[in-house]
Amino acid sequence: MDAKEVKSDLVLILDYGSQYTHLITRRIRSLSVFSLCITGTSPLKAITDHNPRVVILSGGPHSVHTADSPSFPEGFAEWAESNGVHVLGICYGLQLIVQRLGGEVGVGEKQEYGRMEIAVEKNSGLFGSKRVGDRQAVWMSHGDEVLRLPDGFEVVARSQQGAVAAIESRGRRFYGLQYHPEVTHSPEGMEMLRYFLFDICGVNAGWKMENVLDEEIKVIKSTVGPEDHVICALSGGVDSTVAATLVHKAIGERLHCIFVDNGLLRYKEQERVMATFKKDLHLPVTCVDATEQFLSNLKGVEDPEVKRKIIGKEFICIFDAFAHDLEKKLGKKPAYLVQGTLYPDVIESCPPPGTGRSHSHTIKSHHNVGGLPKDMKLKLIEPLKLLFKDEVRQLGKILDVPEGFLKRHPFPGPGLAVRVLGDVTKDSALDILRQVDEIFIQSIKDAGLYDTIWQAFAVFLPVRSVGVQGDQRTHSHVVALRAVTSQDGMTADWYQFDHKFLDHVSRKICNSVRGVNRVVLDITSKPPSTIEWE
Ligand code: XMP
Repeated sequence: MDAKEVKSDLVLILDYGSQYTHLITRRIRSLSVFSLCITGTSPLKAITDHNPRVVILSGGPHSVHTADSPSFPEGFAEWAESNGVHVLGICYGLQLIVQRLGGEVGVGEKQEYGRMEIAVEKNSGLFGSKRVGDRQAVWMSHGDEVLRLPDGFEVVARSQQGAVAAIESRGRRFYGLQYHPEVTHSPEGMEMLRYFLFDICGVNAGWKMENVLDEEIKVIKSTVGPEDHVICALSGGVDSTVAATLVHKAIGERLHCIFVDNGLLRYKEQERVMATFKKDLHLPVTCVDATEQFLSNLKGVEDPEVKRKIIGKEFICIFDAFAHDLEKKLGKKPAYLVQGTLYPDVIESCPPPGTGRSHSHTIKSHHNVGGLPKDMKLKLIEPLKLLFKDEVRQLGKILDVPEGFLKRHPFPGPGLAVRVLGDVTKDSALDILRQVDEIFIQSIKDAGLYDTIWQAFAVFLPVRSVGVQGDQRTHSHVVALRAVTSQDGMTADWYQFDHKFLDHVSRKICNSVRGVNRVVLDITSKPPSTIEWE
């Protein structure tokens, strides 16, 4: 999908490295307005090619006084003024506007950071819906301060300490906020963004998943030639499933999917995901059972990173063979590869100061593209590359991907290999783990907790402990239970189950899984632990 094909005016965000930049993008999209984020040092042509209705200059950790501080390109302000484009600067963005348009920014004496109260000085422009003197709490973060405004600008709100909180030049269509309207600590911030976009800029809302779907299908149809074939590796996760379903809707049976059972899947996973692919989504999927191949290569391997490498390499061999078989069958090479890359994976951003990297955009590396054979020369189709995870779930819903499937907890690529500590082929570890995990997850679902937990699973420990079961002394395995809450997997807290629930799960595991006589609970957050145990 191209930004030009979206039925809503574009709000383009120039990113200067604030930790909140992507939150602005999301907040604007939640108002049904299409928003994209590109690096704040983009050349003028990259900005004008997007043809934005509004440009937002983000905050950032820099000071406009630093020699190489990032800024918008020469000619940007003139282009915006002569094309009727509205510009809003947030924090560092406000200071850039002031400095570049002829005002003066001083090195701040008082740092204003955190929750503050501001008061409206003029009920015009940004505060057109407020009265002079109205107060509101906002989330402020800045060191430098505005000393002199450029021509045509006025202060429209100040902080308690008298510092400039908001400026505007309605004539030039430039606006600036010294606080972050996008964070929840600015309770009236969303109302401000809404007022700015719809009442001041006159933006049209039209960013709807239904439109995204139609546009994506059009783009895929026009990209993939009528004789071209496309391949896709399905992991059983949400992203690859939604991407494949979308491409299938566009080109039908010329899409060829592969799902690899590597012997490291969860209880009945192959049957369950294949049933969804075939019965619910009618996807053309070849299921390759490569259990023996994977497990024989993993025999005796204990190091988690070595396990990951072996699994990755094996997967590539199978994918390669699939593509070659297809070539023989079709009489021509598949031309495209579908990947479920998401927007956070490709987002351009400013590296934080002190990293030694330039302001030129950094593209985050991600699991998806890692390691596919280069000689395949497949062109990529990434239909989700402008979407966030929750938007992919919405799209999946429209595509009739079952809701239960869309809400599945994340599952790592190396599967149960990183949940069996040590050699995965010893002591029926995989078999035991599958049974324990199934009891745990099913109990969580029965208790109605599944959707409040970000990720839950069981872990097989390579140790035995003494127990007593049915009047007999046992020397059996220990399993651990892990459940976490998280936003994005980067940090996590352990989930606090009630004791009755834990008692029920522990008894059920010990009574029904042979070879387990002890259940322990992982009560560490991330950091210091990771979510997975290996
Ligand atoms: P950690 O264990 O690093 O996990 O705290 C963060 C999130 O990433 C998942 N994870 C992986 N996903 N390949 C993947 O595709 C991997 O090797 C891998 N390791 C961890 C993990 O399940 C969690 O959601």
